[in-house]
Order: sequence, then C-alpha cells, then structure tokens
Amino acid sequence: MDSIRACIFDAYGTLLDVHSAVMRNAEATGEHAEALSTLWRLRQLEYSWTRTLMGKYVDFWQITVDALDFALKTYQLETQGGLKERLLDAYLELGAYHDAAETLKSLRDRGYVTAILSNGNDAMLQGALKAGNLTDCLDACLSVDELKIYKPDPRVYQFACDRLSVTPGEVCFVSSNAWDLAGAGAFGFNTVRINRQSAPLEYDFSPLKHQVKALSELPALLPSSVSKS
Ligand code: LAC
Repeated sequence: MDSIRACIFDAYGTLLDVHSAVMRNAEATGEHAEALSTLWRLRQLEYSWTRTLMGKYVDFWQITVDALDFALKTYQLETQGGLKERLLDAYLELGAYHDAAETLKSLRDRGYVTAILSNGNDAMLQGALKAGNLTDCLDACLSVDELKIYKPDPRVYQFACDRLSVTPGEVCFVSSNAWDLAGAGAFGFNTVRINRQSAPLEYDFSPLKHQVKALSELPALLPSSVSKS
C-alpha cells in the first residue's frame, strides 16, 4: 500500500447506508421492512448489470425507482398511499455511516486524494452527500453517468484513473460490495473491503488486499503520509 495516492470509495452501502431509507419508514413497511429493503437493493444492482449487458442504459435514479416498484409489488405495498414517494425522498437523503466523515477527513489531512466512484447519478449523489455532511471531505465525486456503463465494467475504473490522474497501483479502492471489489481488484486497484456483517469471502479469483469491519479502520492500513515519488 506504499504507493497509494488516492482513496476511491464506493458510495451506496460503503459510505451511505442504503437500508436507512426503509428503516426510517419502518412503521409503514411493517413486518416486511427488512425483506423489502434487501429486495430493493438486490433488484437495483441486478438492473444495473442487465442493462449494461444489454446496452440499455438509464440512470441509477430510474433504476432505483424501477427496483422499488418491483419490491413494493412483491410485498403488496404498492397501494399504500405515499409510501413510494416517502421511500424515494429518504433515498435522496440516505444516512452516512457514523465513521464516514471522520475517515475521509483523516485521509485527506494526510494528503490522500479522496473521491467517490459511484453508479449513482450526480443529482442523487449530491443530495445524499450533503445530508451526510460528506461534501466537504471529498476532492471528487465521479459518476458512471458520464460513461453510461455501470460498475464493475473495467472502463469505469479506468475513467476514475483518467479523472484523478493516477495509475491503478496508486489507488486504494474501498467498498462494501464484493462484486465491486472483484471488478476493481481485477482492474489493478488495491482493494479494501468494509465487511460490517462479516459476510463470507467471494470472487476469490480477484485479489483483495485487506478486509476490515469499519471505515474507521482504514487509515491504519495506509502510510501516514503520501509518498512523494
Ligand atoms: C455505488 C453502488 C452501486 O456505485 O454501491 O455507489
């Protein structure tokens, strides 16, 4: 990790708690709250991959809406007045993990470039970053929306290198999503998994440098300052 100059973060699930939207509306979603939230997230990701493979891009907000429609119908919640709108409003202001801002600040203070590389489109990312007080802790917020291809296509990781003027070996890529880390590791990034739930390892064909349980453990994995060479 001695050559690292930039720390690039996934947004949803890594810095932002994707389940906080449903949890804030737990009363209205009732006994299905957890299952609804999980299915919403799974379909959201699935639609991003299938649309990329089919060459049928729509932005991540549209995918998020489509996935919620399916999840609400699955649990017969689609007719509950105003629920869809409330969940979508909450998604635009998702909670950030409690250690997100302090971790980003500490890396930035040490001279690392801090950036987000996300499937989310700019409007949805900016809203959530503002709500989570993360905007001022980041040097860049990069969205796949510029490319119209979703992660883990390697062109997305190359786009981040081009934008930040770094080589893959100079990047520490941080995500909670195993599929994203698999793509980033195969591309050549140094990868760190935030594995809050101690999920089993997967995608073992792709190198994973480190695994920790919280964002706050990240700075200790990196040299105390950026190498000048
Ligand atoms: C992101 C999601 C998909 O790219 O985790 O932020």
